[in-house]
Amino acid sequence: MRFQTVAVAVAAFAAGGVLTSLLVPSGGNATRAAVAQQAQAPPDLAALAAEVERLKKVVPDQAHAMQDVDYHFTNLWFAGEAENWPLADFYWKETLLHIKWAVRIIPVRKDNSGKEVKLEEILQSIEQSPFMQMGDAVKKQDKEHFEKTYRYLMVGCYSCHKASDKPYLVPQLPKQPATEMINFDPKAPVPETLLPRVPGSPSK
Ligand code: HEC
Repeated sequence: MRFQTVAVAVAAFAAGGVLTSLLVPSGGNATRAAVAQQAQAPPDLAALAAEVERLKKVVPDQAHAMQDVDYHFTNLWFAGEAENWPLADFYWKETLLHIKWAVRIIPVRKDNSGKEVKLEEILQSIEQSPFMQMGDAVKKQDKEHFEKTYRYLMVGCYSCHKASDKPYLVPQLPKQPATEMINFDPKAPVPETLLPRVPGSPSK
């Protein structure tokens, strides 16, 4: 999971570096002369293309982004079941962000017959479906509404998998959270109340 974040950061940093050196004249007299010279020289398109190719290989693939969706959407179920609405809100927003990210990685796929599948449009239809308004369900803090919306969303997930010629990627209600680190109980004791007492210190 962390690997992706790091890879994205590295890619963003590298891309930023390339663009900065090409586009942004930074201050200082020495650099100003260099920039003036650079402005006359044609940009090295071949090097830029090679750099883009290199960066493409560093960026996480769509399946990786989807594993993040899996993680957040799984945890969302348990946050809702525990009626921990701020946590559910967090996991829903992360789910959506990561679906959007996955779609940005490959916006248009080809199905087995070579037809274009526009993932962006499928995502839009999910976002607009009145049955899939998870944000509303979480805001209403209504568990029944939450559960129903979650199930509809699973239909949404699957519709895109089917359209992408991956009908074998069948979502199911998760049996356990994807994290052991986060406590789903809205009344969970916070870590500072769980510190071991130092021998000899006054008890509370
Ligand atoms: C807009 C299209 C789209 C939507 C919406 C979508 N998926 Fe996916 N999902 C894909 C595609 C495409 C793949 C296969 C990616 C690949 O193989 O490169 C995939 C793969 C996956 C995988 C397999 C990842 C792996 O490598 O093990 C999981 C898990 C997954 N999706 C979960 C979900 C869940 C959960 C939702 C709904 C909350 C969802 N997806 C919504 C398009 C979508």
